Amino acid sequence: MSNTRKVVVIGAGVSGLTSALYLLKSKKSYEVTIVAQHIPGDIDIEYTSIFAGANWGSFADDHEIFLQDLDKPGYHYFMDLARTEPGAGVHIVPKQRYNRQSEMGKDGKPHDPWFIREKFVEGVRTLRKDELPESVGEDAKDPFVAGYEYQTITISTNIYLHYLLQQIFALGGVLKRKTIKHIDEAYNLHQSGERADLIVNCSGLLASKLGGVQDPEVHPIRGQILWARNSASKQISLKIPGFKDESVYIFPRKEGGCIIGGTFMPNNWSDVVDPGLAKRMIERAKKYLPELVDPNYEGNSTEIDVYRYNVGLRPGRTSGPKIEREGDIIHNYGIAGAGYQASIGLAEYVCQFAEEFYQQKSRGGNKL
Ligand SMILES: Cc1cc2nc3c(=O)[nH]c(=O)nc-3n(C[C@H](O)[C@H](O)[C@H](O)COP(=O)(O)OP(=O)(O)OC[C@H]3O[C@@H](n4cnc5c(N)ncnc54)[C@H](O)[C@@H]3O)c2cc1C
Ligand SMILES: *[C@@H]1O[C@H](CO)[C@@H](O)[C@H](O)[C@H]1NC(C)=O
Ligand SMILES: *[C@@H]1O[C@H](CO)[C@@H](O)[C@H](O)[C@H]1NC(C)=O
Ligand SMILES: *[C@@H]1O[C@H](CO)[C@@H](O)[C@H](O)[C@H]1NC(C)=O
Repeated sequence: MSNTRKVVVIGAGVSGLTSALYLLKSKKSYEVTIVAQHIPGDIDIEYTSIFAGANWGSFADDHEIFLQDLDKPGYHYFMDLARTEPGAGVHIVPKQRYNRQSEMGKDGKPHDPWFIREKFVEGVRTLRKDELPESVGEDAKDPFVAGYEYQTITISTNIYLHYLLQQIFALGGVLKRKTIKHIDEAYNLHQSGERADLIVNCSGLLASKLGGVQDPEVHPIRGQILWARNSASKQISLKIPGFKDESVYIFPRKEGGCIIGGTFMPNNWSDVVDPGLAKRMIERAKKYLPELVDPNYEGNSTEIDVYRYNVGLRPGRTSGPKIEREGDIIHNYGIAGAGYQASIGLAEYVCQFAEEFYQQKSRGGNKL
């Protein structure tokens, strides 16, 4: 038996690929085989990673320090990548968040998220009144009264997932397209032909279905998104009163075009595009980010030019993402709407847990 560390990673979404890459990059003689039903290039409702926006905008509340810490390294990583790796499909854009009257605190001030308050992110500034959307029509009922801007990234998911894969291959990683019915099968799928020592479970939403795992806490948070050809110079996000599961977010991508969202519909597995919702999303995009349909702006179609209507299912988990080691299995799934921004923080945990596993193993511990 060779002396390498034989690891099988289940899943080739952003969680699995980043975990695999970080193990390989640690230069600790890992031999990593990724086993996945869906791989970069696939478009399938059961493969969440392709559908993400994807930006960095932490959802963690003030008291959710663990989640804040998971998101932190991703910010620096993606900002650096945008500046230094043109092949990664990541670019830097300002993001503007508009707050309505109903979102103001009791003190009449907006309750800004931790990364704005702490100026964790670059380029934080308060928006001037004239930079907020006009509060006419329906918006007069709950007008825009405040807003902030900061610098963030848009990740072109298809390009970025392939970029991860290229680096994995360059470091000797192996990808196998295969569906496993039970986690136990994973041990026998290592590239060496020998039994794997360690399994990393990055099965996303399908963790709810995988035999031997079937985590009852894992559930979909459905998001309908439009892929459009229109370009813009910034990201925006805001709430829509009266629509519990609907908001607006628009992320222009590096190669042109943009992603228009968004919905957050828990426990809905439907992959059917809701045409009424699509119409509302298009109207809102034109209203709140008019440069998308400004003929003087790059791309200059005067209508929202949708090339694909999509539904993606975020891998939600009731008590938060599962990032822990149980014996010779490291779990990394259930990261909901934060899979890209938290991918680096999660991969750092995977490396730490893997190191701990092999340390114990080398000390001859058989009760791992
Ligand atoms: C509309 C939308 C917008 C989003 N926007 C953002 C954003 O702006 N920023 C952000 O950070 N995140 C965003 N997300 C969230 C992000 O997309 C997810 O958190 C992330 O993609 C989850 O990745 P994953 O690798 O865990 O799962 P997945 O990408 O679903 O990958 C799971 C992998 O496991 C494999 N697998 C599962 N079961 C088996 C099995 N039995 N056998 C073999 N293989 C198996 C699958 O084939 C697949 O390869 C968004 C998501 C959606 C839907
Ligand atoms: C992945 O995690 C799920 C949820 O806990 C679990 O049911 C399943 O057994 C795990 N799969 C593997 C291969 O460890
Ligand atoms: C799921 O979403 C679709 C599309 O919006 C909707 O038609 C359907 O009623 C929803 N199903 C449930 C169970 O909420
Ligand atoms: C772009 O705008 C110019 C000027 O308004 C117009 O002549 C041209 O047809 C537009 N191009 C496209 C592709 O819409």
